[in-house]
Amino acid sequence: MNKTALITGATSGLGYEFAGLFAEDGYDLVLVARNKTKMEEIQNQYPNLNVTVITKDLSEPDAAKEVYEEVKAAGITIDTLVNNAGFGLMGKFEELDILKQSEMIRLNITALTELTHYFLPDLKGNTHKARILNVASTAAFQPGPLMAVYYATKAYVLSLSEALAEELAGTNVTVTTLCPGATKTNFAAIANVENTKMFSGAMSSEEVAKQGYQALMAGKRVVITGSVNKIGAYTAKFLPRSLAAKIAKYVAKEA
Ligand SMILES: NC(=O)c1ccc[n+]([C@@H]2O[C@H](COP(=O)([O-])OP(=O)(O)OC[C@H]3O[C@@H](n4cnc5c(N)ncnc54)[C@H](OP(=O)(O)O)[C@@H]3O)[C@@H](O)[C@H]2O)c1
Repeated sequence: MNKTALITGATSGLGYEFAGLFAEDGYDLVLVARNKTKMEEIQNQYPNLNVTVITKDLSEPDAAKEVYEEVKAAGITIDTLVNNAGFGLMGKFEELDILKQSEMIRLNITALTELTHYFLPDLKGNTHKARILNVASTAAFQPGPLMAVYYATKAYVLSLSEALAEELAGTNVTVTTLCPGATKTNFAAIANVENTKMFSGAMSSEEVAKQGYQALMAGKRVVITGSVNKIGAYTAKFLPRSLAAKIAKYVAKEA
């Protein structure tokens, strides 16, 4: 029987690439996102695999529970959970729509937390290795003026995931946090950051997903993609937070 990976946000960017990488390794897939047509296209690309499509807006209350219940009702056992769906928004905190910012918190934080909570007992119940991949960002390492809520959501994802990795040490479950820097996906257009300094050296989604996938399979706790991003993230650790915030604000400006 094939192993199964559940991937949120599989319709574009990193999630789409993850779906391809798992499929190449013979995993069955459970795809979760809002765009049903796109997920059905992916399903048609892999006629030899069981690809289950769950159309769900993960920012809705109870979405994570409903996904879990659909998976259980279908009799599917998940071996790898990929919490990838997320979005960002550029702008001053007080000027951005608060409903949109709350939606971001529900997607980037609440859905990821609840999905992990619902699936964890089943992952631990597997007789073989089970894996969780949480997609954070290099935004996790410092405050992010002009993307304040987005950066804060990713700091949460990194903190939660590192804590869980330690709680689960010695069990069959590993937790890997992927921290990409700017990556060429639909993210930049949705967040309105396409013309910023931070996006001038964006990496390809194929390369970022590949590095995340390899780290996940190796059971690594944290992976930062690209050498420039690695240096930036490590430097941020040693800078005063106020200076790190100033730098983040500078790179959020137009290139
Ligand atoms: N690209 C970057 O520069 C970058 C850098 C660091 C971290 N990241 C993180 O990487 C992850 C993947 O983003 P990406 O860059 O691949 O962006 P993307 O191309 O915009 O993909 C985002 C995915 O999330 C799904 N999604 C969005 N809102 C959703 C909702 N309410 N419910 C369910 N699914 C939803 C989208 O599918 P539907 O529209 O079909 O729902 C899409 O499949 C995100 O967590 C992002 O924060 C990205």
